[in-house]
Amino acid sequence: MTSGSETLQNAPDGRPLDPLEALRHERRVSAALREVGVALGTTFDLDDLLELILAKLTELVEADRATLYLLDEGKKELVSRLVVGDKVRSIRMKLGHGIAGIVAKTGKSIRIRDAYNDPQFERDWDVLTGYRTKSMLAAPLKNHLGRTIGVIQVLNKQDGHEFTSEDEAILSALSTQAAVAIDNSRLFLSLIQKNKQLLDTTEQLERKLQDLSLLLELERRTARATTLEELASAVLGQCAQACEARGAGLLLSEEESGDLVEYAFDTKNPESLQRIGVKSREGFLGASMAQADILSIDQADTDPRWNANVEGTFGFAVTSVLAVPLDGESAPLGAIGLFSHEGSGSFDDADVSLMRLVSANVSTAVRLFNANRSRERSERLTSIGRLLSQVIHDFKTPMTVISGYTQLMADADDRRTRHEYSEEILKQFDVLTAMQREVLEFARGERTVFVRKVYLNKFFADVRRQLALEVSGLPIELSFQVDTKLVARFDEGRLARVVHNLARNAIEAMGEAGGVLTIGARLDGADLLIFVEDTGPGIPKAIEGQLFQSFVTMGKAGGTGLGLAIVKKIVDEHRGTVSVTSSSAGARFEIRLPQGGNEDGAAAAKKASGTRKSGRPAKGSHVKSPAR
Ligand SMILES: Nc1ncnc2c1ncn2[C@@H]1O[C@H](COP(=O)(O)OP(=O)(O)OP(=O)(O)O)[C@@H](O)[C@H]1O
Ligand SMILES: [Mg+2]
Repeated sequence: MTSGSETLQNAPDGRPLDPLEALRHERRVSAALREVGVALGTTFDLDDLLELILAKLTELVEADRATLYLLDEGKKELVSRLVVGDKVRSIRMKLGHGIAGIVAKTGKSIRIRDAYNDPQFERDWDVLTGYRTKSMLAAPLKNHLGRTIGVIQVLNKQDGHEFTSEDEAILSALSTQAAVAIDNSRLFLSLIQKNKQLLDTTEQLERKLQDLSLLLELERRTARATTLEELASAVLGQCAQACEARGAGLLLSEEESGDLVEYAFDTKNPESLQRIGVKSREGFLGASMAQADILSIDQADTDPRWNANVEGTFGFAVTSVLAVPLDGESAPLGAIGLFSHEGSGSFDDADVSLMRLVSANVSTAVRLFNANRSRERSERLTSIGRLLSQVIHDFKTPMTVISGYTQLMADADDRRTRHEYSEEILKQFDVLTAMQREVLEFARGERTVFVRKVYLNKFFADVRRQLALEVSGLPIELSFQVDTKLVARFDEGRLARVVHNLARNAIEAMGEAGGVLTIGARLDGADLLIFVEDTGPGIPKAIEGQLFQSFVTMGKAGGTGLGLAIVKKIVDEHRGTVSVTSSSAGARFEIRLPQGGNEDGAAAAKKASGTRKSGRPAKGSHVKSPAR
């Protein structure tokens, strides 16, 4: 056995080559190397390349056959990749065993004159095939990092000669080229694979992004929906578009009646959402809801669950169906579905996973929607109760006035006076009607503060007449300090309630002991200032800090503690403020109502009031505020 690469130009029989023959040989070698070099740059098929290399090799070194092995690093085996001159296609050899195995392990070439004389040669293969191996030449395939990736082996030089060092040099050159080809191809394949992985990842990411933006959009739209119809059409339109469905449906039970309703959406008619009354288990959505399971059906028209009342009323023939139940607390609260895939004809796994996400989203939205609705209803009922108690509280004023005038009427002889008194009584009925209207408007979800120009002169004249009835029989003096030329802007009926509540508290505080009740009104900057002052004992210290809260009362047998809470609420509705100062010499409540600086404002009204006849009805405006 010899190894290495002497480049002696000898003929196969050992005699030196004659120069002409040597030159021809050189030419053939360099032509073959060139051909392989060109093929390396132009042929991408690895098998073609390797076949060319092996064919050239067998021809140049005049071998009987040649084998190219690749190293399987994992299994530590050499596996034949290509064989020239033999029909056998697959040979496996352990690393370190047999000639090729030793070459792969050591990374060095081996040249043998007679294999059977070499102890490292394993005859198994010859025994199996009947071939008689004699001379051998094997060289490692090394990649650009110098790692052995395989072995090329040639057997039996023709005419019983042995392989020369010249042959070894040729094998070494061609194995380098084969290694380059293999390396390139592996690099190329791994690049393609990486590229494919990248494409797959990008595709998955894009899909996830689409799903996410769909969910985000759904959340935005469902949050804005004020009715179930709005919620349904927002959800269904989005889903149908995302999954290429011709139509979509949402099955829900109505909150108050508990009846099942299916909202059916048709992409060709997106404006008109159909509302179909459905019985339990009817149609595909009914079945999905009843079974609490996903249904994915390709031939819906022949399916026993197809229902004329539901699917039959769609404006198109329902072919494929994907129905997903909406999770409820114990049982599904409905179902959502897609009808007739417009592309492939059936819904795929991606559609199923998207609809699962959507159904979770929609069931949360529906539950939230129902919870909001029932909270709003119960809040409104509570507020109606509160408003009613306030209105009933303030019924006291018109009732007192009516009862006062009724008594006066009973004693009045002359008809004209009785007529005057009856007018006053009728006015109080208007006050009562207005208060009743306030409650009813609120129950309907409206809330109106009727702000308009009010002539203070007339407003306080009415207050004075009514209070006179209330203090009659008590040692209480009424004093008014009102800028009577002033015209201000506020809700007359409600401000009257404010003044009466404050005045009644003052009268109650002074009681039998008596005193002076002073009521005043004037402009203070841009505000209308109204004050109610008494000479009573002042506010009890214990409740000073919570005076304007409901049910805070002290020192009164029949007090409910609502009077000042009503005052505060009405002042708030006018965007004004209320404050109190108190001492043992009495209490003073001050109300400030902003009048704004516009032409309709108090300042302008004051200017105009000198030239205007009083009593003319003033133009009003409604300030709407949301019902609480
Ligand atoms: N001018 C005042 N002088 C002294 N204390 C007052 C005066 N105004 C209010 N208060 C105190 O504030 C409490 C709360 O008044 P508020 O009008 O809210 O309820 P109330 O008068 O007790 O009952 P209601 O008005 O509902 O019949 C009164 O109970 C009283 O103790
Ligand atoms: Mg009171």
